[in-house]
Amino acid sequence: MLAGRERSDRILVSGGAGFIGRHLVRRLLAAGRPVTVLDSLLEAVHGPDPKLPSELDGARFLRGDVRDADAWRDALAGVDLVYHLASETGTGESMYRAQRYVDVNVGGTRVLCDLLGEDSGVRRVVVASSRAIYGEGPYRCAVHGIVHPEARTAERLARGAWEPDCPLCGLALQPHPAGPGTQVHPASVYGVTKRDQEELLLSILPPHGVEVVALRLQNVYGPGQSVRNPYTGILSIFTVRFLDGENVSIFEDGQESRDFVHVEDVVEAFLCAGDAELGAPTLVLDVGSGRPTTVLEAAHMLARACGADERRVAVTGDYRIGDIRHAFCDPGPLHAALGVAPRIPIEEGVTGLVAWVRTTERPESRLDDALDEMRAAGLLGRAEAR
Ligand SMILES: NC(=O)c1ccc[n+]([C@@H]2O[C@H](COP(=O)([O-])OP(=O)(O)OC[C@H]3O[C@@H](n4cnc5c(N)ncnc54)[C@H](O)[C@@H]3O)[C@@H](O)[C@H]2O)c1
Repeated sequence: MLAGRERSDRILVSGGAGFIGRHLVRRLLAAGRPVTVLDSLLEAVHGPDPKLPSELDGARFLRGDVRDADAWRDALAGVDLVYHLASETGTGESMYRAQRYVDVNVGGTRVLCDLLGEDSGVRRVVVASSRAIYGEGPYRCAVHGIVHPEARTAERLARGAWEPDCPLCGLALQPHPAGPGTQVHPASVYGVTKRDQEELLLSILPPHGVEVVALRLQNVYGPGQSVRNPYTGILSIFTVRFLDGENVSIFEDGQESRDFVHVEDVVEAFLCAGDAELGAPTLVLDVGSGRPTTVLEAAHMLARACGADERRVAVTGDYRIGDIRHAFCDPGPLHAALGVAPRIPIEEGVTGLVAWVRTTERPESRLDDALDEMRAAGLLGRAEAR
């Protein structure tokens, strides 16, 4: 079996022009590794007149779609390690563009599996999975221990009953970190497609001698996240609004929480996942800081970093069907398996994010259009009683 970075040959990064992909490609090239990037330069992410990110200088770039077997065939030439990051990524959008999400995320992965089932020379695939596959995720009940509540219903959300309660006794719950025992139970089409990506790779490839590592990413942020895409990247969306002099609206009561993990920490996990001796044909790990931050806290942090008045943050009581309430993970298993520990605290990370957004060309915001689309699809509501 191949081991150690020096023995690896060409590396393919699908979605390598995207936010996480471009940081990963930069690090691989800096380590002297030959890299191929396969990316369709999706308009929602890259705009109508896309330019290749400078991080890709020195990589072999192929503009192509993961649904197209010929594009994969071309991209896989001479490759022994694949990072599969190309994906449709908007949780909210996935609820009314299900066909596209299934075609790209599941269909594209199926095409890759077909090709790697042939004798391809690829030794490992590392896939960017998501905590979205957990749906509402784990909570602790004082009576029943760890429970997995169902997705919150529209009726609950309309009442402003934001916190899930125990499915067995109805008691209030404490959020619990996701980890190896967490039930996979997605609450959005995006989550379903990320689960299916993982399962296709994990079930089809190991019998063909291809190892698979699935990294279930929490909420990744940092420089390079698309400032165009209104469907993903809550911290970059907020930053753009503060810098453009707009107000920032927060869903629910602002106490929903996320595990914001810096892109550099995520890339470190990807690098180790590509090169470490696994000792098993498959490995599944959560990647997050381990620290939950409420969306309201995060917005206030960003307001300060942008020099904006915190009073520009408004908690609206709006809600989105398919959103989850709390998310964070236990970073222990990642450290135990790969020796990686996320280390950039959000207070430090947001400063770099704001500095980057300040120097980035910002197209006109499409956030309001995206919210209108969701409202028209019946997926956006406002709580009556708060
Ligand atoms: N950013 C996060 O917080 C986060 C969290 C969990 C999981 N992930 C996963 O990490 C991966 C990378 O996410 P990101 O934040 O960098 O997203 P991104 O949108 O910035 O990058 C995705 C890239 O994939 C490309 N792409 C989309 N559809 C394609 C297709 N049909 N064919 C070829 N290329 C296509 C896009 O052009 C884009 O460059 C995705 O798989 C995503 O599901 C991200």
